[in-house]
Amino acid sequence: MKHLVSLPRIPLVAAATPLQPAPRLSAEIGVEVWFKRDDLTGLGLGGNKVRGLEYLLGDALDQGCDCLVTGAGSQSNWAMLAALAARRCGLTPYLVFYGSRTRPTGNLLLSEFLGADVRFTGELERASVDAGIDKLGAELSAAGRRPYLVPRGGATPLGAAGYVRASMELAEQLMATGLAPSQLWLATGSCGTQAGLVAGSRWLHSPYDVVGVSVSRPVDECVTRVESLARGASSLLGFSPDDDGCVTVLGGYLGQGYGRGSLAGDAAAQLVARTEGIFLDPVFGAKAMAALVDAARAGSVDGPVVFLVSGGAPTLFAGPKGSL
Ligand SMILES: Cc1ncc(COP(=O)(O)O)c(C=O)c1O
Repeated sequence: MKHLVSLPRIPLVAAATPLQPAPRLSAEIGVEVWFKRDDLTGLGLGGNKVRGLEYLLGDALDQGCDCLVTGAGSQSNWAMLAALAARRCGLTPYLVFYGSRTRPTGNLLLSEFLGADVRFTGELERASVDAGIDKLGAELSAAGRRPYLVPRGGATPLGAAGYVRASMELAEQLMATGLAPSQLWLATGSCGTQAGLVAGSRWLHSPYDVVGVSVSRPVDECVTRVESLARGASSLLGFSPDDDGCVTVLGGYLGQGYGRGSLAGDAAAQLVARTEGIFLDPVFGAKAMAALVDAARAGSVDGPVVFLVSGGAPTLFAGPKGSL
């Protein structure tokens, strides 16, 4: 990956995030589990999105942009962290959310606290955000601003580069601990995180398979997106993998839908809090952990495995009806 070091990048991550054993959880589910603590990435309340933002903000500053426009749902971890990263770099953050204004809790509260310019599309479809971002970008350009537009989730090949870099970080930690996990588990939403991990593991010939648990899209759509973003990241970074392998995404853990908690997820998150003292967010990490717990108890996982704790703490306080 010759371009990984030459791509413009703003250091935001308090790297390396810890790789920690989870002995009490492991004993409960019968598989050795380690946590990669990306809830501790160090910007705001942490989370996986900070890694991609290092490259996205690097690109924005390189292009001479003076503001950042992105969006999602009003409880989006991505949107809040993108706004926070923009502030850290001196760019004005603009956020486009679908739906209408709700009571400010969780990430919406924080987005407003940090002074992001927040707009609602008034439409319930998530896709209304995409048109809203383009429209606002055009308005800002017409007014003489230099906006940097990023799609929902930051799911672009450049955003995925953050988790290629994280794969290197993890490889060093695995070497130092002598650990050779069979799998790396994570929650998959817009697919950029899994794509970066897949591209990184192919490049590094890592010992583990990357196992995503879909928390929003149908499995087939995730597989296609992860593969396409992984290829995009690899080609951006000047690397063509000789061994593409397959992309693994599991379904069946959506519960009542995207952005809502689930009974299985809540039970898994409680287990992690009560055994390891770590809070998983209810709509990403909790559902991925539910899938891992089921697989471990069904005897279909050979440990050790690594689980990516991807953050999302603000939604713990958003109540049951948050929308991401
Ligand atoms: C806490 C948390 N975990 C996991 C994910 C999934 O990451 P991705 O959208 O890159 O698939 C997200 C996405 O917003 C998130 O906020």
